Amino acid sequence: MQDESAEEFPYRTEYKKKSIRSYVIRAGRMTEGQRRAFDTYWVQYGLSLFDGPLNPLEAFGREAPLALEIGFGMGDSLLAMAQAEPDKNFIGIEVHPPGVGRLINNAGKAGVENLKIYMADAVDVLNDCIGDATLDRFQLYFPDPWHKKKHHKRRIVQAEFVRLICSKLKTGGAMHMATDWQNYAEHMLEVLQAEPLLENTSSTNDYVERPEWRPETKFERRGQRLGHGVWDLVYRRRPGEASILEPVEVTAKDSDTPVSEAE
Ligand SMILES: C[S@@+](CC[C@H](N)C(=O)[O-])C[C@H]1O[C@@H](n2cnc3c(N)ncnc32)[C@H](O)[C@@H]1O
Repeated sequence: MQDESAEEFPYRTEYKKKSIRSYVIRAGRMTEGQRRAFDTYWVQYGLSLFDGPLNPLEAFGREAPLALEIGFGMGDSLLAMAQAEPDKNFIGIEVHPPGVGRLINNAGKAGVENLKIYMADAVDVLNDCIGDATLDRFQLYFPDPWHKKKHHKRRIVQAEFVRLICSKLKTGGAMHMATDWQNYAEHMLEVLQAEPLLENTSSTNDYVERPEWRPETKFERRGQRLGHGVWDLVYRRRPGEASILEPVEVTAKDSDTPVSEAE
């Protein structure tokens, strides 16, 4: 039987085959406005994983400091940042189509020109599209916490992920993460402290106050309603070469877990 929805909606999340994912592709309903936004604005904002290495000068039509955010969710905070810092170029990466639709709709209506979007797996984009030592700031806000211990391997923050980001940051560039889940904050702190290419900007060598450049996010507000705390971590990239770390070996069971059945 022909899949009519695929015919009507040709925009697909892009990713390569991998055994462990930090996300679940949800069927997620799209509003009519979000759907229409792809037809109207994807041509202006969209980038493709399969186009290979990105030339920021070509993509943005200007040279400017570059900030990259993974997992912007519904995109309101990324849009606010792009508007608040028009002197910077922003790249957002998200796998969830309704969030991408919402962001490009609002950005298009507001006439924002310093923003580009990948609807793709962020690790694939980092590996295939983002040049080494090209980022001035990396942002990861309220990533999926994967609460259960048996799912901790799905957390996007792992030593090899952090090293990959280090390879993409310029010397002196900022690595900024935030979470509302204490156990994940402690995990982030442990992994980031162990990375020799990073220097903690915290005077207490752990967490910092929310920097002025980060607006509150949707997940943060949700966490606050549930009584969660918030932990921000900001590190600076030290000079030095970032040799790539191999991912930790995965078991056959991990590889067999279909994404749709994961928590
Ligand atoms: C808990 S939400 C937080 C959204 C937003 N940052 C906020 O604070 O409201 C995490 C988001 O990260 C996205 N995500 C997780 N892993 C990703 C990956 N590897 N590539 C792109 N997006 C990812 C998910 O689809 C989800 O929208």
